[in-house]
Amino acid sequence: MLKIEHLTKSYAKSSVKALDDLNLELKEGEIFGFLGPNGAGKTTTIKILTGVLPFEDGKVSVCGHDIKSDSIAAKKNFGFVPDTHIIYDKLTGREYVDFMADIYGVDVETRKSRAEKLLRRFELTDAFDAAIKTYSHGMKQKISIIGALIHNPKLWVLDEPMTGLDPNSSFVLKELMREHCAEGNTVFFSTHVLEVAEKICDRIGIIVKGKLVMIGSVEEIKHASHDKSLEEIFLSVAGNEFDSVPLGGATSK
Ligand SMILES: Nc1ncnc2c1ncn2[C@@H]1O[C@H](COP(=O)(O)OP(=O)(O)O)[C@@H](O)[C@H]1O
Ligand SMILES: [Mg+2]
Repeated sequence: MLKIEHLTKSYAKSSVKALDDLNLELKEGEIFGFLGPNGAGKTTTIKILTGVLPFEDGKVSVCGHDIKSDSIAAKKNFGFVPDTHIIYDKLTGREYVDFMADIYGVDVETRKSRAEKLLRRFELTDAFDAAIKTYSHGMKQKISIIGALIHNPKLWVLDEPMTGLDPNSSFVLKELMREHCAEGNTVFFSTHVLEVAEKICDRIGIIVKGKLVMIGSVEEIKHASHDKSLEEIFLSVAGNEFDSVPLGGATSK
């Protein structure tokens, strides 16, 4: 599905590694939550695995396709919702979704029925023909989500997707994530919201200073950390007290 091996990344002019020998493997059909404090390396990881950023060392593959040497095949297999709305705001919602559907080669009937369902779920139908520049932050987030799902990707990648969504939309998004996985696909998302991670993730990984410090199901991680709450565990690892908390859960397979 998604395999990240020994990934190392340094930004130009920075002596600190943004990612330091990161290893991660996702399973088919799971929702994986990527947690970590600000600046831990979540967005960097996500931009690398989606082919947005170059990297020095390591290997990343999506559904068996190397993101560097076989990038088009890799990109066909995921949909990406970035943390900033990199969408063309001169287009209408419909034009944007059509553009995404054209890129991924989704036929007219299929794109229409997928878009209609998603627009209804997000209560965005009435704004579909308005220019995206007139959308609120939450509406832009929703159209970005619809664009990312229009080709029904095997892997759905989202960076801090709950930011700016109202409770209703956030609920719908969680439902969509669950449904996407129930159909055998995989969801990989980063979040600061521990309750969301705790509620919907099959497994979580915690990244601190570019290193994965914990991985496993919430239950496994809690068990390995003497049944502390996820918040206590997060605060203790994010505060750098690694020694007091064992590496949680089984290694990813
Ligand atoms: N464009 C950039 N140039 C230089 N350093 C960057 C850039 N983007 C991120 N970083 C640094 O890389 C580290 C990881 O950042 P990021 O991946 O954005 O973290 P997160 O998404 O977990 O908050 C931080 O130390 C950040 O300052
Ligand atoms: Mg980020």
